[in-house]
Amino acid sequence: MDQIRICGGKKLNGKVKISGAKNAALPILTASLLAHWECSFSNIPNVRDVTTVLHLLSDLGAKVDLLENNSVKLDSSHVCGYEAAYDLVRTMRASILVLGPLLARFGRARVSLPGGCAIGLRPVNLHLNGLRKLGAKIELHNGYIDARADKLKGCNILLETPTVTGTENLMMAACLAQGETIIKNTACEPEILDLACVLNKMGAKIQGAGTDCIRIQGVDGLSGAKYSIMPDRVEAGTFMVAAAVTGSQIQIDDCCPEHLTTVMDKLREAGVEFEEKNDKITVSAEKDLRAIDIKTAPYPSFPTDMQAQFMSLMSLAQGTSMVIETVFENRFMHVLELIRMGADIKIEGHTAMIKGVSRLSGAPVMATDLRASASLVLAGLAAEGETLISRIYHLDRGYESIEQKLASLGAEIKRLK
Ligand code: EPZ
Repeated sequence: MDQIRICGGKKLNGKVKISGAKNAALPILTASLLAHWECSFSNIPNVRDVTTVLHLLSDLGAKVDLLENNSVKLDSSHVCGYEAAYDLVRTMRASILVLGPLLARFGRARVSLPGGCAIGLRPVNLHLNGLRKLGAKIELHNGYIDARADKLKGCNILLETPTVTGTENLMMAACLAQGETIIKNTACEPEILDLACVLNKMGAKIQGAGTDCIRIQGVDGLSGAKYSIMPDRVEAGTFMVAAAVTGSQIQIDDCCPEHLTTVMDKLREAGVEFEEKNDKITVSAEKDLRAIDIKTAPYPSFPTDMQAQFMSLMSLAQGTSMVIETVFENRFMHVLELIRMGADIKIEGHTAMIKGVSRLSGAPVMATDLRASASLVLAGLAAEGETLISRIYHLDRGYESIEQKLASLGAEIKRLK
């Protein structure tokens, strides 16, 4: 298995281009199952989760043409399959996003129940309850979700928690339901608005995406669309922390500052400075940032997907920080690895207390999940000496060529085959 070796302590400088958002690309790619005609999407990130979902779509019978420069053409007009097999779903939980489109388009879906993952149980009960309310018959057999629906019927749905992929699954299913569907307490993440923009370009009638109430008028069918995926706000946030943790100044291109308001506010509180110009952000930081507290929560609050990266930064801040993780029950897997690098962190339930230390030291560490692996890379950039990160397939799920991007900024980082 590949490893990443980092010799820390180097300053970063220069520019980095942000890739398309993984968490927008995944639902947008599965939305192509709803269309009778070809869709073409650009700014698709070249990451493992995208490869997995394209594999799943071609398994279902979609025609998938991977073009160069991060574009893909999809034609689902001849899709005949409706099963998402366990071996694919277990590698990527977001495969559950084929459930809504398959049910709406073909009235049939058999999707393996996504297991939990390192960060939590990750149940899908809200997806299934919502689809049942839309008229689907759903049974669970041998670890599979067996769903049928002659014709989905619009209804009112109130989500117990604002689930991101749950909102996306139900929004896609409701596009072809009979009549109007109103979904309340929906997640407000920008990726949901990106998905709604594509669906509306395909002929759907969706209002309110990006707010906590989404209204969908069902239509008979959807046509194809061309669309460019939004930039990845978590990748951009990760590079902001890379500049902060190495006391550097870098420019981040092709990003959306408005998607990062809370993250930038928190980094400013710590002493990081920003200059925004359209889709470019210049980040500059001296060493010795101030310790600050964060509490993760659904958008627009501080994103759980930036919690691990932030903890690496707070490990070297002046003072003691408190990090409260409210979204997932086990998203502190990076803490033990950071402690091996010299961080001073104590966990009490969902709260971590991080006492800033003057330096971290490089060490062999192990990635456990996507954002935990990013936090280890960031800690390695700041640590003295060599850090060797194993199981970096976790990192490859959601970051496109991160070691090349960091190396071009001056980091001493190498992938060892
Ligand atoms: C999405 O996961 C993202 N993944 C995650 O990003 C992200 O961390 C998460 O949203 C929260 O922002 C994609 O978009 C592909 P949820 P999702 O459903 O949709 C509970 C990354 O690093 N819940 O919003 O699976 C759940 O247990 C990944 O890129 C139910 O109880 O997250 C959690 O506590 C990691 N029942 C909370 O809701 C359900 O049916 C939020 O989960 C669904 C969710």
